[in-house]
Amino acid sequence: MKGEYDLVLFGARGDLAGRKLFPALYHLHHCGLLPEGFRVVALARQELTRDAFLAHLESRLQGVVDAKRLNDATFAEFAARIDYLALDFTDREGFRRLAAGRSPRRGAIYYLAVPPALFGTIARHLGAAGAVREGDRIVLEKPIGVDLASCRRINEEVARHFPEENIFRIDHYLGKETVQNLLVLRFANRFINTQWDQGCIDHVQITIAEPVGVGGRFAYYDQVGQLKDMVQNHLMQLLCLVAMEPPNAMTADSIREEKVKILRALRPIDDGNVAELTVRGQYIAGWYHGEPVPGYLEEPDCTRPDSETETFVAIKAFIDNWRWAGVPFYLRTGKRLPEKRTEVVITYKSLPHNIFSAGKNIPNRLIIRLEPNEGIQMEMLAKKHSLKEKMALERHNLRLDFLGATGMDRIPDAYERLFLDLIQGDPLLFVGREEVEEAWRWCDALAAAWNRQQVELKPYHAGSWGPAKAELLIEKDDRSWHE
Ligand code: BG6
Repeated sequence: MKGEYDLVLFGARGDLAGRKLFPALYHLHHCGLLPEGFRVVALARQELTRDAFLAHLESRLQGVVDAKRLNDATFAEFAARIDYLALDFTDREGFRRLAAGRSPRRGAIYYLAVPPALFGTIARHLGAAGAVREGDRIVLEKPIGVDLASCRRINEEVARHFPEENIFRIDHYLGKETVQNLLVLRFANRFINTQWDQGCIDHVQITIAEPVGVGGRFAYYDQVGQLKDMVQNHLMQLLCLVAMEPPNAMTADSIREEKVKILRALRPIDDGNVAELTVRGQYIAGWYHGEPVPGYLEEPDCTRPDSETETFVAIKAFIDNWRWAGVPFYLRTGKRLPEKRTEVVITYKSLPHNIFSAGKNIPNRLIIRLEPNEGIQMEMLAKKHSLKEKMALERHNLRLDFLGATGMDRIPDAYERLFLDLIQGDPLLFVGREEVEEAWRWCDALAAAWNRQQVELKPYHAGSWGPAKAELLIEKDDRSWHE
């Protein structure tokens, strides 16, 4: 059925669809990468004509798709692929109309860009309405549930109507170029892989920092917080890709098995160690690029002025296995931090014996950067060119800048890769059921320990790198965050 699928998009007027999904589809169309007969059925609750929806869509694309690529002629071609259907996602009758309107010859990719509470209901209604045919796919956006129990309920309900191989769970970080490159870097380069363990590595840092606050998304975000919004999925996925054993083949099953082993080997964070190993924070008013910005509780759509939801998390994690015994993984992620920065920093151990008297023992570092400027940087020591100083050492950076190296003028958005894979039915960059459940198990234990121990929520100024306690988390080990 290659290429003979249509996309049926639930939540077509939502934030994700406007900011990410339609722009990605538009870019694919613009590059000629969408299959010829590929169509999109956009579903949302509002009664709208197709023209009204397209006008709304065009205005959403402006400012997201870059101006060079957005023009009337290409938009008109793109729009010709799109239909709009008003559907109340809890109304069974509507699903029957959806099923009846489907082309008998084309498969469906049901994409659920809706809150996870609706996943089970939609899968059930699709099944009951006879809208699920052999080979149809369903796509679940993260978060899958709000904890392990709700995640399992969703997985079970969806599994009643779709076989596991047709369920595509999205964590869009896996579609990012540098995240895929992490696999290549580790498993296509012998010299890197042989230096990838507790014998060589001192510690690992993973940072996902965003300058944005949660204004405009308060209703969603306040229910989840940074642990469930970013750690349980994006951060855990990066951690798994950094730490997993080499899979025996480049297949989804093989990679998922290795990721699950890492999640199972993560040392539990419980009542006894939660205060020592974690920091939770919430932003208060501060400054960003010289402009004042409000605190979390002063966001215009804040409905809970006493909310204790965290917008920052830092964790010192350990993976209890042979490869990583004793190596700390310092993880941090937060909203309203000074810049958009996502990176993995590997710091190697110091030399066992330093023979260079004219230089202190500076460790090598490997930085894998997802944002800004996707690329890789290796920090190493070389001799300083100097006649005055003999055998002096200085640090040099070997840099690979992906955009510069490709000669392209933009790096495709993660969703572009993921849509192509969905259309081709390639599960490699999607998340398996066990992985997502194991990640919830670990995060649930952490969240429960926060509650029981009443771990204090530390305020931090918008525009800063989080609460001072996050600095302490790493500095008490004589290390510091890479900044
Ligand atoms: C989403 C989170 O999954 O990822 C958002 O819900 C976050 O809170 C976003 O802002 C970050 O994605 P990216 O690709 O901009 O790093």
